[in-house]
Amino acid sequence: MNLIFLGAPGAGKGTLATLLSREYGIPQISTGDLFRAAVKEGSELGNKVKGIMEKGELVPDSLTVELVRQRLAKADAGGGYILDGFPRTIVQADALAGFEQIDHVINFEIDDQLVIRRLSGRRVCRSCGAIYHVDNMPPKVEGKCDRCGGELYIRDDDKIDSIKNRLRVYKEQTEPLIAYYRDKGLLREIDSSRSPQHSLEQIKGILE
Ligand code: AP5
Ligand code: MG
Repeated sequence: MNLIFLGAPGAGKGTLATLLSREYGIPQISTGDLFRAAVKEGSELGNKVKGIMEKGELVPDSLTVELVRQRLAKADAGGGYILDGFPRTIVQADALAGFEQIDHVINFEIDDQLVIRRLSGRRVCRSCGAIYHVDNMPPKVEGKCDRCGGELYIRDDDKIDSIKNRLRVYKEQTEPLIAYYRDKGLLREIDSSRSPQHSLEQIKGILE
């Protein structure tokens, strides 16, 4: 099953991609995670995207499409995948349609106020990438990952100015993909304002 998770920053795409990936045994492919890994490594790609990500702007389409093309060519994507945060522009969506067949596009519906609350309380594990929230999904021990014991940190783009810019960029460049995929008959919508479990049940209802 080839899936796209579409939605505003902080809508819960990464959280649900992790849950669904475990349940269905298909990889979560997050362009944001791939770029953050490149920044951490200090690779050429990482140096190119670091400043763009901190401001909450989009990485150029050509770089992003090439990264996804290479990732999808790996063996583990052969039995299906979840694209988390890609595509984010019409150019990316058209490019993807040229080399992949998508089964469902899940759109995570949520309002801006909730996004701001979710992102300003988010904590992420530096080692394994697990996602927490200080109120909604706190770790058992403050500042430490339940899964691997790694240190939890605040993403560089989870500062209020960057969050507001990401929302603006989302509305200008990514929201048009809702109509794009609706026209293709691929769009499925979920209410992402409640618990992760509630979102998971809605997605399973769509897939099964
Ligand atoms: P990316 O990493 O994709 O960030 P994003 O789209 O802004 O989305 P987030 O990861 O912030 O939100 P999410 O929906 O995954 O929410 P999460 O599950 O963490 O991209 C980062 C940057 O990389 C971009 O700004 C851009 O520069 C670049 N980039 C990436 N892809 C690109 C592309 N295709 N093209 C160009 N540039 C690209 O949840 C958020 C919080 O809410 C967490 O704390 C979580 O615990 C909590 N939470 C989640 N679900 C629930 C729930 N149901 N109930 C209560 N709390 C919840
Ligand atoms: Mg994410």
